[in-house]
Formats: sequence, structure tokens, C-alpha cells
Amino acid sequence: MNRIFSGIQPTGNLHLGNYLGAVRNWVRLQNDYECLFCVVDLHAITVWQDPAELTAHTREVAAAVLAAGIDPRRNILFVQSHNPDHAQLAWILNCVARMGWLNRMTQFKDKAGKNRENASVGLFAYPNLMSADILAYRATHVPVGEDQKQHLELARDTAQKFNNDYGVDLFPLPEPVILATAARIMSLRDGTKKMSKSDESDYSRINMTDDADTIELKLRKAKTDPLPLPDSVEGLEGRPEAANLLDIWAALSDGTRAAAIERFGGRTFSEFKKELTELAVSVLGPISSEMKRYLADPAELDAILAKGAADARALSAPVLADVSKVVGFLKA
Ligand code: TRP
Repeated sequence: MNRIFSGIQPTGNLHLGNYLGAVRNWVRLQNDYECLFCVVDLHAITVWQDPAELTAHTREVAAAVLAAGIDPRRNILFVQSHNPDHAQLAWILNCVARMGWLNRMTQFKDKAGKNRENASVGLFAYPNLMSADILAYRATHVPVGEDQKQHLELARDTAQKFNNDYGVDLFPLPEPVILATAARIMSLRDGTKKMSKSDESDYSRINMTDDADTIELKLRKAKTDPLPLPDSVEGLEGRPEAANLLDIWAALSDGTRAAAIERFGGRTFSEFKKELTELAVSVLGPISSEMKRYLADPAELDAILAKGAADARALSAPVLADVSKVVGFLKA
């Protein structure tokens, strides 16, 4: 059976972009693959995280994944730091991957910015930890968006080099799963910028925990242009806000941009926004109330995560034992 590993960072409130671009698609994967879903707190601390917030966000992200429909009886949901095998394998992979390979990672360049000397060593080694996440379970498939493609390539190169250096066939080379249904959701204030948890305006995004009134308000205030909605996809040229709102409709209704245009072409933004609000509230409402239920009494959530960590470790332990043997570590 093919095995999927996917990670999500606990760095702040999840929003509609995370849901439609990632989490919702995981729900579909659980039917076709054996899945491990991991809240990657070790990755999060490659940049500064307030400790209390990190704890809270770790639970929030786990609650959101469950509320979105990941079934913890069929999948493994766990927190990365609960299984020490990730850090153990990451160190070994630090000694396999080459400086030159990591120097080419565009995400490091973007995140470190001009002040590379002041970036954490962890931020530079981040992709090796991601490789370890995947390879510790001999995962065969990884769902990736555009921004993580290069890291997955690196994981493949690192797995291949490990196999070559030690003359083994220990790690399968993980394949990307490109999700056709993953939507790219843009800011509600600027249709050319990705919806982001770091945007200073909360009006730029719909958070998974927003209530119906807040969703209504944010969509009402969402940026538009003075024209009615176009009758054709070509008519969206140069109208990023219209395109984004129609895409949100399409994603929430499991339809296409063309179907959204067929329905709303020629109508005013205010009519369209009313229907969009209804749809958004009906999709997100049950998810946010389920999230709040988990977070109000985290004992159940923590128990799910503890079981997930134990199940994860049971899968990674034999892989790490093989790795240790191959590398030549004295048996403990
Ligand atoms: N780097 C990924 C991101 O920022 C998260 C991640 C960590 C991940 N480990 C992973 C994704 C392993 C896929 C597989 O989105």
C-alpha cells in the first residue's frame, strides 16, 4: 500500500487558504493511501515562536485537521516532536546532503532574506528535517504545493545518495502527489497576494475559527472593482479580486471557475457576495464549531495525538534500526 506523509506547521491560525489549499485535500487522500499527518513543531522553531503560542497553535492545527474530517482511526495524526526519530534521522541526513544542495533552496533564501548570517542553523537545515519526516516512514508519496517541490526533490536526492553511499536500497524515492483540486486562495484585500496568516490586516483572510458574522463582514468588505461579474473566464483578465472570489466559490462548492461564472456572470458583487457568504458559512461553520469543541476540552485531542505518536514511532523504529545498522552505529 502506498504511504503518504504530510506536514503542516503550527504557526498561527489556519485560514481559508490553508483549508482549501491543503487540509481539505488530505481528507480525500485518506481513502486512497495509508496516511501520516504531522504537526511539524520542530520545523516551526526554525524561526522564533513564542512558547505559549506554539503550544496553543499545535493544538489548534491538530483540531482543525480533525474537524476538517481526518479520521484518527484510519490515519496517524501526531506531533513531530513526540517522535524523536525525526530529529535522529535528520542528523544523519545532515551528514548525507551537501552544503551546495541546501545553498540552492529558494525558500531559505526568501526566509533568511538579506541577513543570512543571522538566520538559525535550523532554518538552513530545515529541508533535511523534512526529508527525515518522509524517509523515517519510507513514505512513497508526499502531497506538495509549488512551494515545497524543491524540498521534495532534495529529499529524493538525499535518499538516493544514502542508498548509493551505503550500497543499500533502504529508502524508496518519494513521489509528489500533485493535487488538482488544491485551490490557490488570495488575500481579500489584494487579489494578487496570497492569503496569509502574516498579513497585518485580519480582513485579508477568513480564519477557520471565524464565526458567521465575521465571515459575513469580511466578505462584505472584501475588495472588488466597479464592474459587474464577467460572462466569461477571459473577462477576468486584469480583475484579480473578482477571480479570487469566484475561485473561492468554486473551491467551496467543489466546482470550477467556469461554473461559477456561468452562475454569477453579469450579476453584481453584492448579490454574489451574499451567496458566497452563505456558502462559506455553511462549509466552515461545522468545522469551526468542531474545532472549538476539541479545544474547549483538549483531553480528547491530546489522547488522539498520544496514540498517533505511538503508532508513528512503531512505524519509524524499525526504519531507524535499519539505518543505524547500515551506518555502523554500535547496537544499543
Ligand atoms: N515544509 C512544509 C511546509 O512548510 C511542511 C512539512 C514539514 C512537510 N515536513 C513535511 C510537508 C513533510 C510534506 C512532507 O508546508
